[in-house]
Amino acid sequence: MIRKYTFGSPADTGAVVQSIPAEAGDLPFFSVSFPEGGEPGTVAFTLNLNPEDILWGLGETLRGMNKRGGRYRSWNVDETQHTDDRQNIYASHNLLVVFGPGRLFAVYLDDPGLVTWDLGFTRSDQAVITSANGDLNLYLLEEESLNELARSFRRLTGRSYLPPRWAFGYIQSRWGYASEEDIRTVVAEHRKRHIPLDGVCMDIDYMDGFRNFTWNRGTFPDLKGLNADLRRDHVRLIPIIDAGVKLEEGYAAYDSGVREDAFCKKADGSLFVAAVWPGRCCFPDFLNPEARAWFGDQYRPLLEAGVEGFWNDMNEPSLFYSDEGLAECFSVLDARKEGAGDAEIMGALRSALGSLANSPEDYRRFYHRVGDRLIRHDKVHNLYGAGMTRATAEGLRRFGPEKRWLLFSRSSFVGAHRYGGLWQGDNISWWQHLKLALQMLPNMNLCGFLFCGCDLGGFAGDTTEDLLARFLQLGVFTPLMRNHSAIHTRDQEIYRFSTWEKMRDTVTVRYALLPFLYSEFMKAALSDGLYFRPLAFDWSDDPRACRVEDQLLLGESCMIAPVLEPNALGRSVYLPEDMLMIRFRSAVDYDLIPLEKGDHYVELALHEFPLFVRKNRIVLLCPGGESAETLDDTRLTALGWIPDGAAYDFYRDDGTDPSPSPDQITRITAAAGPSLRRSFTAPKDFPECRIPDPAE
Ligand code: GLC
Repeated sequence: MIRKYTFGSPADTGAVVQSIPAEAGDLPFFSVSFPEGGEPGTVAFTLNLNPEDILWGLGETLRGMNKRGGRYRSWNVDETQHTDDRQNIYASHNLLVVFGPGRLFAVYLDDPGLVTWDLGFTRSDQAVITSANGDLNLYLLEEESLNELARSFRRLTGRSYLPPRWAFGYIQSRWGYASEEDIRTVVAEHRKRHIPLDGVCMDIDYMDGFRNFTWNRGTFPDLKGLNADLRRDHVRLIPIIDAGVKLEEGYAAYDSGVREDAFCKKADGSLFVAAVWPGRCCFPDFLNPEARAWFGDQYRPLLEAGVEGFWNDMNEPSLFYSDEGLAECFSVLDARKEGAGDAEIMGALRSALGSLANSPEDYRRFYHRVGDRLIRHDKVHNLYGAGMTRATAEGLRRFGPEKRWLLFSRSSFVGAHRYGGLWQGDNISWWQHLKLALQMLPNMNLCGFLFCGCDLGGFAGDTTEDLLARFLQLGVFTPLMRNHSAIHTRDQEIYRFSTWEKMRDTVTVRYALLPFLYSEFMKAALSDGLYFRPLAFDWSDDPRACRVEDQLLLGESCMIAPVLEPNALGRSVYLPEDMLMIRFRSAVDYDLIPLEKGDHYVELALHEFPLFVRKNRIVLLCPGGESAETLDDTRLTALGWIPDGAAYDFYRDDGTDPSPSPDQITRITAAAGPSLRRSFTAPKDFPECRIPDPAE
């Protein structure tokens, strides 16, 4: 059951696709108040918490899976310091699930402005959600189970984005690949060593002076030719596009943006200008459908060069400084010249410089045109990245309606999950960020973002060999498996390390599992389900399972529990029921260990990692390969502990159809028996396949 309550005059955010009439009565569970002292119109919703209540949701944000005890802000920001005391990063996903004895519901605030979430921070027995604008639709969802609740939210907000199948391959990325030669070297180093690879990301260095939709003709003289060569090798180029468009007469995207009136303006009608990588930029008005259409069309030269996937960045939008902000900063610095020698000068200078980027004043300086209304940016700030994703997805669809495109973004809002995936932004090569990545995944899934992953190895800072190895072991299971790092950090490609063969073996597991993981992903997406979820979703009566913060359910039958600490040779795992542990070293080298329900310490040397499979379920391995396109998903091996037999609905499609039918299923039944491993051939386009027990 979904109920809707309207406060103030909400903007159309595009997050919700179901039309639900607003209720006239009081809002259940919450008390509503209008706090004084904030912005006029501010509204707060207070919920009393029981000691046992667990809170999930908020998608891509900080702290653990259970959000209770922390403070959070829905305010998209370019922020690398993903530490426990931060309240917001790149995305705002305003869904909160409340689960405790006798209570199960979710609340979604369809509010594109600032929302703060005090989830037991000020008072441990209260959650207070405050909307700064007070213009919002609030949805209350109640269902019988956690999984049904998640499904109900997805039906409210629409089906998740479907990437092409090749996007499940391994992707290598680095800020700093500056030429065709750099890219060819990366591909060659992978192929030479048989490290599987499906894509190479091109960061801002490919552009001509960081101008969107251009490339440097000196360092990339023949992008189309490069792309064609790599495609023959089953590798795709994935260029970055940033939100800001360089302000420069004579530059096509700027000129046409001005002509089409596609950029955000200030109250006086002049263009809003702020600096990002290319220097002074203008910002497309992604809330305006015509501007979106114009932006989507700008991708054409890259598409004509054969590109089939993009990552969209800096779309919070990230602002290094505005003209006005810089002028104010210089005046503060000038005024301070006199006081040189004062003790506090350091603080004053630091504060003047430190408040230049992403300043709240700048977000109040420009407007969006929606119909005949002008909306000040800060009122709808969190929609910007989602609008960019939508503009891109619609442009790609116009160019190639017959296929799926790879697209993932940094900033987002609920609704963008229908148009693209997400990466978790600029993490750091820290062990804490490995755990954080894991903990964000189920909450991002709850908010509709199924195609996601983090920068494996860590973006900022120098990774270590063991950290990269453990990151890759998580990445084997994340739909987006991308190794990405920042310029001037330690080289992070697998082949740079002395144990590259072991890390390659880890990636081979991804490729052996790829048809199975793709099947699990597509079934989840097409049925509005979850690919990753907290254990509580399937064992909500098991209080131990409900509190697990470092293991995740994957698809219908699996659980992951990566090692998250340095120098560990194993870890503790809680099994809510009997499971088979597959301890992988490579696609062909693994142990099969049945484990009973309960607590276990499992030994996992540095290059070993587990996948747990529920009893009487199977997972499928294919013979592997070096690219998603060349995998054979008919010659399979089923792994499972199946004393009572198992049945699996194996989803397969052509990997590109934008409207795939969910019935592309081969039902694989495995006869009961003691063998844990059975090889078989599963015919394509055949609805059934029976695997006997080899002992039969
Ligand atoms: C941002 C992105 C990062 C990218 C860098 C340079 O920090 O988050 O992934 O490498 O910009 O484009």
